[in-house]
Amino acid sequence: MADGDAPGRPRVFVSRIIPDEGLGAVRAACEMDLWEDDLPPPRDELLRRVAGCDGVLTLLTDRVDDEFLDAAGPGLKVVSNYAVGFDNIDVAACARRGIPVGNTPGVLTDTTADLAWALLMAAARRLPEGDRYVRDGRWKTWGPLLLLGLDVHGATLGIVGFGRIGQAIARRAQGFGMEILYHDVQELPDDVTGPLGATYLPLEALLARSDFVSLHVNLSPVTRHLINAETLSWMKPTAVLVNTSRGPVVDQVALADALRKGTIWAAALDVTDPEPIPMDDPLVGLDNCLIVPHIASASRATRDKMAAMAAANLIAGVRGEALPTEVPPPT
Ligand code: DGY
Repeated sequence: MADGDAPGRPRVFVSRIIPDEGLGAVRAACEMDLWEDDLPPPRDELLRRVAGCDGVLTLLTDRVDDEFLDAAGPGLKVVSNYAVGFDNIDVAACARRGIPVGNTPGVLTDTTADLAWALLMAAARRLPEGDRYVRDGRWKTWGPLLLLGLDVHGATLGIVGFGRIGQAIARRAQGFGMEILYHDVQELPDDVTGPLGATYLPLEALLARSDFVSLHVNLSPVTRHLINAETLSWMKPTAVLVNTSRGPVVDQVALADALRKGTIWAAALDVTDPEPIPMDDPLVGLDNCLIVPHIASASRATRDKMAAMAAANLIAGVRGEALPTEVPPPT
């Protein structure tokens, strides 16, 4: 239950242990009920624990929908998500009830871009395979044909979704002398794309021209399975697909098929559908598919900043103040 029941202090539920930078502030300002397990609260427990709360601090593993909001009750004043993405939240349902939703934009941009680049490089140069090769005791000599990969420098990079993170990917690509292509719902102004040397292309043309494709779109009904059997078939057989956005943006059955048949060369995924990926998913058995467990923002410094931001949104919300970083309600 809550840390204490002092009257007059807002009651909040925090659905996982987050860094002290946030937890300390929440504890100081609110009566906090904290879910302390490593795994997320089961749905029925989550619904029970949010009942009567003034605020909730959720993770991307918690679904916030009408059922959740009904369970929380009419006193709920804010939903603060510990993530920049908010596809786990029915923002329209919150808006209908006048409940603002907070997220953590900006602070994780560069950390996420760093990880996307680590994935890109690792897949291009077959680092996981090389590491396994050494640890399995298979390294006998230097080999002219051993673990040959792809050059990254001078290659063409296609960035799908050219927001904050997509642009941070492009900045890094400049250092590798890459040709930079981007696709988004609309072309961005020259003052954004010019300094990055980024050229807009329709999706089909971008996929057909790129040696590396990095996904940075929000998950929405439009982007669900954006990468599917058809769009994969537009890519080069030597292409590498990197996904640090959301798992369902990629049709994994189609991706496994494409990787097996050589429709594309490799994939590197920070996100899967579902998460965690089941061990019997075909992608798990493929050497040309690198998978890490949704860690793009997982640097200590960034997770601390995310915690502070999520706490600030929560505390502002329970006080009836404007959230420092509010997800714009749908129009
Ligand atoms: C986010 O913030 O949306 C990431 O997926 C996790 O940091």
